[in-house]
Amino acid sequence: MTSVVYSTATTLTGQLADERHSLSWLFAVDSEGPDRAAFLSGIGVLVSGSSTYEWVLREEDLLAHPEKWPEYYGDRPMVVFTTRDLPVPEGADVRFVRGAVTDALPAIRAAAGGRDVWVIGGGDLAGQFDDVGELDRLELTYAPATLAGGMPLLPRQIGPDRLVLRDVRRYGQFAHLSYDLRR
Ligand SMILES: NC(=O)c1ccc[n+]([C@@H]2O[C@H](COP(=O)([O-])OP(=O)(O)OC[C@H]3O[C@@H](n4cnc5c(N)ncnc54)[C@H](OP(=O)(O)O)[C@@H]3O)[C@@H](O)[C@H]2O)c1
Repeated sequence: MTSVVYSTATTLTGQLADERHSLSWLFAVDSEGPDRAAFLSGIGVLVSGSSTYEWVLREEDLLAHPEKWPEYYGDRPMVVFTTRDLPVPEGADVRFVRGAVTDALPAIRAAAGGRDVWVIGGGDLAGQFDDVGELDRLELTYAPATLAGGMPLLPRQIGPDRLVLRDVRRYGQFAHLSYDLRR
């Protein structure tokens, strides 16, 4: 059965990026995180907000080097929530949607082809999935870093009545926590 999984790296203080969308605090960690290829093998479709998508394009210069896209994502579709017209690397299967998660969800689930949906971020988009009871799991990789401000991990109030810790793992200096989210 398809699960919707929000998987991300985060600071100890719950940010995905600093105010300038920088992940320098993450790239400074001298450790490997969880096995990305193993995680991706269970994923049928990627879901992203527009800031995250633009960061990905910028960081790897993917518009100039579209051949790198499949190295990261294979042939999986990426669904990007945005109200704007954004560019697409040549050959990449990027699908733009806007508005309510519930409207986009049937097509997202169909695109998953029986595998899981990876919500890459940002935090509010993951929150929009939870708002409508469509977020099943959190996979959070904590880096040894704090920030005074930045882009929030999950700006919603969710308590222990809904969050069930299912696994804790150490990857060098990273601590990885997996939670099931009760609906
Ligand atoms: N640490 C990590 O591993 C990790 C993981 C993910 C992200 N990040 C970083 O975290 C930051 C997240 O940025 P962010 O908080 O701005 O979040 P984001 O979700 O990447 O982008 C937010 C934008 O997406 C669009 N959007 C969101 N929901 C929408 C909806 N329902 N309909 C239409 N458009 C919608 C809106 O922009 P428009 O309508 O103006 O396009 C909104 O301002 C980025 O810097 C990213 O690179 C880090």
